[in-house]
Amino acid sequence: MRLAVGCGNLQPTVSLVQIRTGGVHRPPPLQVSQQPLVDPQARTIRYLRVSLTDRCNYRCTYCMPEDGIDHGARNQVLSLEEVARLVRAFCAWGVTRVRLTGGEPTVRKGLLDLIRELSAIELPTGKHLEVVMTTNGERLEAMASELVAAGLSALTVSIDSLRPDRFRQITRRGNLQNVIAGIERARTLGIPLKLNTVAIRGFNDDEVAELCAFAWERGITPRFIELMPMAGGSLFVPGELMPAEAIRDAVSQGFSASVLADLGNGIKGLGPATYWRLSGGLRAGQRFGIIAAMTENFCNTCNRLRVSATGQLHACLARDETGDLRSALRSSTPGALEQRVRKVVGAKRDRHDFRTDGGGGPQKAMISIGG
Ligand code: 5AD
Ligand code: SF4
Repeated sequence: MRLAVGCGNLQPTVSLVQIRTGGVHRPPPLQVSQQPLVDPQARTIRYLRVSLTDRCNYRCTYCMPEDGIDHGARNQVLSLEEVARLVRAFCAWGVTRVRLTGGEPTVRKGLLDLIRELSAIELPTGKHLEVVMTTNGERLEAMASELVAAGLSALTVSIDSLRPDRFRQITRRGNLQNVIAGIERARTLGIPLKLNTVAIRGFNDDEVAELCAFAWERGITPRFIELMPMAGGSLFVPGELMPAEAIRDAVSQGFSASVLADLGNGIKGLGPATYWRLSGGLRAGQRFGIIAAMTENFCNTCNRLRVSATGQLHACLARDETGDLRSALRSSTPGALEQRVRKVVGAKRDRHDFRTDGGGGPQKAMISIGG
């Protein structure tokens, strides 16, 4: 069966263009099937990460050079209306959750309109699309209530240190107090929160337990990410990788308790983290997550695709192959978009080649794809 996205149960109540221009321009509907996206490893794609910008108000040392990166021409970046059309197509193919990323998504103008539009999308199952976002938290205090009102259903905030000087050192521009104020504000609104910390030997390896305590005291699940060699390994220092096992040891020692795998209800989440919990001690039962791309490959459960701000579809964070969805979206050839998407899905490999010496990763930078 073929349907026009934008019709039937995927009908937008108001399109973004209508919101902003009084409905002057409405693009032709995309023709797409409702066939799920299944890759050669039989993994069904349910989760789409969409980068809204490759700009950021921070310059984290492991992500970007101090003087930033080159940005392409503005018209290479998808308009928010194009993003919404694209997401609708992915919803027809079975995506149930979209994560908005960057760069830093809160620097993109029109973000709230987009969240409103996406969170109103009704899926073929009758449920609404889940819209979540990853942010550095710098602007969160001012934006949190509008984000929640717009329909955002969960937030992940990055926080690499609880010491203001270290936080400044790693982000080059960030202000820890602003991020903490943003987290507190979001908490009072009741939106589910996660904290992400890139674990770095010789930098924040002594803060793992403190970061856990900070999160748990606020009813939040902390997660630790192994440092990955993006951008041809140019910003990667092998000795800085803190392996998942060392992260678990740090939590275990910090709370004088053992750490056990947390299988929860037996259903793995949509994301790449594995979860662990403390057994015994004063914090018994508290949970934390680890995203161990480097030492405990998680590729077998990968159900994600990523779209860059310029509309390139990436099958994998760690590989450079892409499909150009922007030109397909802007062309009037029926089926062009679906053909490109299915080609990328069909080429999704079984695992990445990251190596702990910094080799094997992609040439692309994390800033271009948002994690
Ligand atoms: N390795 C691991 N995590 C990274 N992030 C950015 N660059 C890297 C890297 N090289 C993290 C950010 C954020 C998430 C989107 O990805 O800190 O938490
Ligand atoms: Fe910005 Fe995130 Fe990169 Fe830091 S890691 S510079 S917050 S995009």
